Amino acid sequence: MIEELTDELRKVNEEAQRLIAAAKSVDELRVAESRLTGKQGSLGKLLGSIGKFPPEQRGAVGKEINQAKAAIVEQFAAARARLEQTADKAAATAAQTYDPTLPGPVVPRGSVHPVTAVQWEVEDILSRLGFVVVGGPEMETEYYNFEALNIPAMHPARDMQDTFWLDNGRLLRTHTSPCQVRAMERLSAPLRIISPGRCFRYETEDASHANTFFQLEGLMIDRNISIANLIAVMKLVLEQVFHRDVKVRLRPGFFPFVEPGFELDMSCAICGGSGCPTCKRSGWVEILPCGMVHPNVLRFGGIDSREYTGFAFGLGLTRLAMMKYGVRDIRALNAGDLRAIIRPERRNGRAIIAKD
Ligand code: PHE
Repeated sequence: MIEELTDELRKVNEEAQRLIAAAKSVDELRVAESRLTGKQGSLGKLLGSIGKFPPEQRGAVGKEINQAKAAIVEQFAAARARLEQTADKAAATAAQTYDPTLPGPVVPRGSVHPVTAVQWEVEDILSRLGFVVVGGPEMETEYYNFEALNIPAMHPARDMQDTFWLDNGRLLRTHTSPCQVRAMERLSAPLRIISPGRCFRYETEDASHANTFFQLEGLMIDRNISIANLIAVMKLVLEQVFHRDVKVRLRPGFFPFVEPGFELDMSCAICGGSGCPTCKRSGWVEILPCGMVHPNVLRFGGIDSREYTGFAFGLGLTRLAMMKYGVRDIRALNAGDLRAIIRPERRNGRAIIAKD
């Protein structure tokens, strides 16, 4: 009987060793221990079997089983301590491998609006030719928006630009041209300026008209400035914006503040001049109005028109952005529609568009 018990106890002990070796966590260890010592476990069953021994042996048997149990419990406790220590170490290493100086996850930052992107691009191009960027008020006086641009009160040309008149007698500028005379007054001749900004017209909105749009005014005044200079500068700007050779042509256009005045067309950027729906199969698209500064305007700006001549142009930035990025509906640009947003590349500290 007693030999049998010793054998049983050896088996229980072996089982305990196996369980301890297999347990990967403190919890697993705890479960294994209670299974072994529980009523249904092999050790528990042995404890429950004391009553089967003859009464004179029970004391010795009980002592032996309890000793074995104490040894097993002790081994479990030691194993638990070991596991706890390793878990602590793992946590400590995990804490060490976290480097708070590493950059965080990259959050998409969005990008500039297409109109801003072309504006910056044109500014960059013309800055390299010595043009400086100047601003002007969006709420203008009648004088700068019309009078000083050779458009007197009763002139029919005022009807070409449906105007938002304000209660305070001012207006929302209908174009960036008021910046011409403002610049002449401030800088005098010779000068090279560009002036980008928001313009407003009392228009019904459709796919190609908006009541708020962006222009970029350009003005160059010096001795002997000619139409050839105008063409050269415009061609260069367009070629750099569209990254391709561009042909330009001039058609007569009427604006009271230039004489002669032109509509400048460029060879269609979509089909390269062979004719497509965008250029209405003509191979040409109207891109910007321009002309030689009218002597009256020079006079309003305090510049001697016998000594100086100049050219001016009004680049439609909204239109240019639409052509460059193939935006078909102008309303997409003003609607906060994220599909109109493009991914800019940084160059010269300013955003330009990834190469097309
Ligand atoms: N300001 C004119 C417009 O918006 C365009 C223009 C600018 C024409 C400069 C000639 C010279 O209609």
